Order: sequence, then C-alpha cells, then structure tokens
Amino acid sequence: MRSVKSSLKGLNIAHMRLLFLLIVIFLQALGLGTVRAQELAPPRLDEEFRKQEKIYRSQGADVPSGYVIGRGLSDYAELLPSGFCDALAKLGSSDRWLDIGAGSGQAILDYYTPEDVAAPGKKCAGAGGKVRAVAMSIEDRRTDTWQQHAARLGDDRIRYLSGKRLRYYSPEEIGKFQIITDVYGGFSYTEDLSVFLETVLSLLDIDGAFYTIVQNVDLEASKDNPTKGYQTELVDAGGRGVKVCSWLKRTTCAKVVCESKSDWDSPSELINIRKVCSDVSVPRMKLLKYEAGNPPGRRFQLEP
Ligand SMILES: C[S@@+](CC[C@H](N)C(=O)[O-])C[C@H]1O[C@@H](n2cnc3c(N)ncnc32)[C@H](O)[C@@H]1O
Repeated sequence: MRSVKSSLKGLNIAHMRLLFLLIVIFLQALGLGTVRAQELAPPRLDEEFRKQEKIYRSQGADVPSGYVIGRGLSDYAELLPSGFCDALAKLGSSDRWLDIGAGSGQAILDYYTPEDVAAPGKKCAGAGGKVRAVAMSIEDRRTDTWQQHAARLGDDRIRYLSGKRLRYYSPEEIGKFQIITDVYGGFSYTEDLSVFLETVLSLLDIDGAFYTIVQNVDLEASKDNPTKGYQTELVDAGGRGVKVCSWLKRTTCAKVVCESKSDWDSPSELINIRKVCSDVSVPRMKLLKYEAGNPPGRRFQLEP
C-alpha cells in the first residue's frame, strides 16, 4: 500500500491525466464506453421526460399543434394495416378492443355512432357498435361527448382508463383483448419499447392482433440502411442500424407483418402482430436517447 502511495506521489498532473486517458480508452475497448455514456445520460433524459410530461398534461391553447388527440375511426382505417377494419368487423359482442393512446377516444365514439348518423365513408366498412371497447390514455382527454356516450352505453360497452402508462396494467386488472390498436400512442411515445410490446402481447388473447403505426423509421422495404436521422432509431450492440420490423420478428409467439409506406410525407411502417402462442419473449432494448416531441425522438440499443 505504502509503495503504491509513494509511486503515485511521484506522478505529476500530466502523468495522472495520461493515466486517466489510458484507463478510459481501455474501458471503451472492453465495450464499457456505452455504460459510461449511459451513466452520464440520466440528468438529460430526466429533463426530456419532464418536457414530454408537459405535452401530455397540456390543455386548451397550450396543446402543441402536432399533438393530435382526436383522430376518428376513418383516420384509424387509413393509418393502420389493411386488415384492421375487417378484423374489427368480424368480432362479436363478447369480444374486446383496447385502444392504447386513445386521446379523446374519438375512434371508439365513431365505432359506436349508429350507421345512419355517420357521414358516408366515415367508418370502417361493416365495423360498428358490437365489441366492448376500452380507451387508454396517460392523461384524461374525455370530452362531454364521451361522457354522454358512456352514460348511455354503460361501462360494459365503453370504458376510459387514464392516469398511468400501459406497462402498469396487468391482464388481471383489465382483462384480455381480441384486438389492440395504437395510432401514434404508446408505441410511438414509450421510453421502453420492449416492455411496452411485452405488455401489449400479455393483454392479447391467442389469435388476437395488435395494429399500430410508427413513422420516420428505417422501413422494412427500404434498401439503404443509414443509422442516423430517424425519429425512432434502433441499433445493435455494435451500433449498426436495425429495422423495427427485424427486431419485432425476433419476438417469439408473434407473427409480424409490416407494410412500408415509403411515399407518405412521413415514411411509416404499418405493423400487424398476431399472437400465436403464449410463450412470448421480446428481445430487450435499452434507451440511449429520448427527445421530447410529438412523437419524441428515440434511440434504442438491442441488448446482446
Ligand atoms: C398524440 S395522442 C394520439 C391520440 C389518438 N390515438 C389519435 O390519433 O388522435 C398520444 C396518446 O398516447 C398516449 N400515450 C403515450 N404513451 C402511452 C403509454 N405508454 N401508455 C398509454 N398511453 C400512452 C397519450 O396519453 C395520448 O393519449
């Protein structure tokens, strides 16, 4: 111990700096550089989470224009994979639909609007008013119209859950669903994509399906594979870009179909995941970057 102390005494500041630099280079060579980057990250992430929370809590004129909370069923029909309306139409009165990130729940209200009242082409053809529907949102965006419909139809037909994120619900608490949708909801906003997907699949019945969309990602159909500039970016342990659909397709007990929309203003991946057995396992990812927004900018890294 004394000999270490005395040899350290012999080092001047320049030596100490060099020694520190060598230790950092050595740790980075061992792959611990990312750990160090993550250790430095939390204060910045916390700040971004605070900003995101402000967006969720915004009211009236303070709601950012890009934070759309009232898309109707016709918008869902356009934005979700092609089989969505048919799948919804096939369900019966004992089946259940969960809309994650429902905002004001307009899509569910449209679904329950009697056929003759709806404007032509306003709904999914053939889908209307049968299934029991649950709208979920972090913040409560219920309108007077929602309250009136809910009072008329009863809790058994339409329900609105708010106050917490999807990952804090269990099947024991809210039951299982035959269809789950997410239009610019949790899938686009969550800071933990693996846990989010795992929760979605835990709430789905076998043969049930999840329909979602994510914009500005590396599309399954695209050939070029740049790793920078996407709103939601996935990388492997070596920092190489990974397509969202390739990651999803590694999930066990899930049949994933992706429809790439490369010619949309915001190139988007429309995703349909059918749960085919119960032994679901989603490959883990950790969050590297989160920038608050509508939706936020996110970077995830697949765990080895
Ligand atoms: C931009 S709004 C979209 C609303 C609606 N789907 C539409 O298209 O009009 C985002 C919604 O996602 C919800 N959300 C975001 N992350 C969520 C999560 N992890 N769990 C549940 N809801 C979430 C927000 O609370 C909000 O209701």
